Amino acid sequence: MNNFFSLTLLNWFHDNGRDLPWRQTRDPYAIWLSEIILQQTQVKQGWAYWERFMQKWPTVEQLAAATEDEVLRLWQGLGYYSRARNLHFAARQIVEMGAFPTTLEGIKSLKGVGDYTAAAIGSIAFNLPAAVVDGNVYRVLSRHFGISTPINSTEGKKEFALLAQELLLPSLDRDGIGAGLYNQAIMDFGAMQCTPASPNCVSCPLMETCVAFREGRVGDLPVKLKTLKVKERNLTYVYVRYNDETAIRRRGSGDIWQGLYEPLLIEDGSDISNLTPRPLLLKKGVKHVLTHRILKADFWLWQPTERPALPADYIWIKEAELDDYAKPRLIEILLESLS
Ligand code: ADE
Repeated sequence: MNNFFSLTLLNWFHDNGRDLPWRQTRDPYAIWLSEIILQQTQVKQGWAYWERFMQKWPTVEQLAAATEDEVLRLWQGLGYYSRARNLHFAARQIVEMGAFPTTLEGIKSLKGVGDYTAAAIGSIAFNLPAAVVDGNVYRVLSRHFGISTPINSTEGKKEFALLAQELLLPSLDRDGIGAGLYNQAIMDFGAMQCTPASPNCVSCPLMETCVAFREGRVGDLPVKLKTLKVKERNLTYVYVRYNDETAIRRRGSGDIWQGLYEPLLIEDGSDISNLTPRPLLLKKGVKHVLTHRILKADFWLWQPTERPALPADYIWIKEAELDDYAKPRLIEILLESLS
């Protein structure tokens, strides 16, 4: 039965798999780059970024020689900027190692690479027999095998990892090759066929063996434990315009926007009504959802008649040069509301 599952996925992939540019190569650098981009990004959005990175830095040596600012700038718009900082750091690790690591342990020693990403790179680039477990895999396995253990519990993680590894084996040929194909097959299957909200069960090649389908539980699986509600935080950004200049600062270490630039930030509850002349409200209550926070931002435009004194970490730049600085998506929205 398990042979049936794995071999059906491989067949399905042969007929339906996506033709993605990083599937045309065995270059571990290109594959690693694609996996980091796809960690929290849909293929549709990540595709263009992968192409831009490969064009600008075709080799890991070239990426390692770039500055962090350059990498952040090309990453802009993808979010989760620690991925970009880790990517740059790991490029330097790889150059120091002398070559891209070829074992799971070696790949996992790269910054920003965990179990999932190591298995993906290792199997696709080097045929290492390691099963990937990502959101797609949890969904496909929990439905097909009718497993209701919560996927974010310790027990669930163990159970699904074991099962995934077991299911990988039938897809390996006599030389142990095929892990990369199988992993990409199950991920594409989850992304295209066994989708979260409206899976295409009617034309599914696994319909007859799918426990969730038989028992009418497709909509109930996978099960996820509820985590605490994410905190909401209010921010007030003031875009200061003096002559043709504006003030920005680079965010320091220890937060998700480290290394990115932002205009004058007024924290929760502070009052801006004592500024003269009165600032102009650009946008109110702009909602921005991050993994552990929901941000609600108000944007103001302030055009003082003299250059105001600002905290020491702000720098004055020409407004025309704003493009040269990497900014969080939220700040891009502010800038769009200016024009
Ligand atoms: N999502 C992340 N990596 C992927 C891959 N290699 N194939 C399909 N979907 C993915």
